Amino acid sequence: MCNKTTFEKHSDALKYLNLQFLILKTLLTDNHGRKINYLRLAVTDRCNLRCFYCMPEEGLNWLSRKELMTYEEMLRSCALLVRMGIEKIRITGGEPFVRKDIMQFLTALSVLPGLNELTITTNGVLTAPLVPELKKIGIRSVNLSLDTLDANRFFSITKRDEFANVMETLEQLLKHKIEVKINAVVMDGKNTQDIIPLVELTKELPISVRFIEEMPFNGDGHIYTGLQWDYVRILDEIRHRYPDMNKLTDSLYSTSYNYHIPGHKGDIGVIAAYSRTFCGTCNRIRITPQGELKTCLYDAGVLNIKDLIRGGATDNDLQNALLKGFSNRPKDGWEAEKNRSKNLPAHESMATIGG
Ligand code: 5AD
Ligand code: SF4
Repeated sequence: MCNKTTFEKHSDALKYLNLQFLILKTLLTDNHGRKINYLRLAVTDRCNLRCFYCMPEEGLNWLSRKELMTYEEMLRSCALLVRMGIEKIRITGGEPFVRKDIMQFLTALSVLPGLNELTITTNGVLTAPLVPELKKIGIRSVNLSLDTLDANRFFSITKRDEFANVMETLEQLLKHKIEVKINAVVMDGKNTQDIIPLVELTKELPISVRFIEEMPFNGDGHIYTGLQWDYVRILDEIRHRYPDMNKLTDSLYSTSYNYHIPGHKGDIGVIAAYSRTFCGTCNRIRITPQGELKTCLYDAGVLNIKDLIRGGATDNDLQNALLKGFSNRPKDGWEAEKNRSKNLPAHESMATIGG
């Protein structure tokens, strides 16, 4: 007897399609001629940490189950977007691994016809035991959020005693030869003493450590007092200690400026997330946990995919709505921010924005 859920049937059908059809991709571009080929999909707003720069200690006003996109809705949206030209999907949150049955969903996505790359951003708290399975379904690269190498500072930044679990995740990822990028948000008065120790990690480990400028998306946990450590200051700090570090050639769509220190196995990068220096080649769109399409990190959302699906939209209707969204993209994060300023949600966090 076959007792499969709709979700499982859908994913079986996708596997079948994968074998049967050659996917003809369209070239997806926006109104500024920028290629769109990268989707960041946030599967939950919930998290098991409370990073200072992301959410207050009491958490956010979590979305109810009904407000979240279901896995079926996400899978259908991803399949359509991949047919339209998306080549890479990154799963984010909140923390993706706190959502129930996430491995089943990742497995289904991993066989989506036409998808070249599936990656994940995680805080590493629950990830270590899942690494062998991630490897098995073909995850080649994981971004691990880690802002300090000191257990006490980890606690003071995240309000949870999970440092050892995150380090175990790092170890497992390396052991299974999954490429690791560490994301470290640089916060004045919180972890600037960790910049050099994090850089030193790249001496022996073949990883990339990327320092991110703090953005004003902290769920109103504290007043954002403006950026103290921009990418130039972060680079100066590193160059002071390592004057002979070399600039690497960055890939076209890279959001980081990347460097290598002679003799190190890994490399480092800085991400000007607040200074927004990379908008000219931005190839990414986001879907938030409640199904909002964002064509820029700083916009307020252009349409709600979940509402369209629940209203009975066909794939054709969805495709037209998405194309309309892409053809109306702000030219950069400054324009997006200006457009939305009349309509700012009260408690924005990276966890509700979509990572
Ligand atoms: N500023 C900069 N980066 C942030 N992140 C979350 N909130 C912020 C913020 N306010 C980072 C996390 C994670 C990535 C998805 O976004 O560290 O690595
Ligand atoms: Fe959780 Fe990531 Fe936000 Fe930290 S930054 S609270 S790990 S969602």
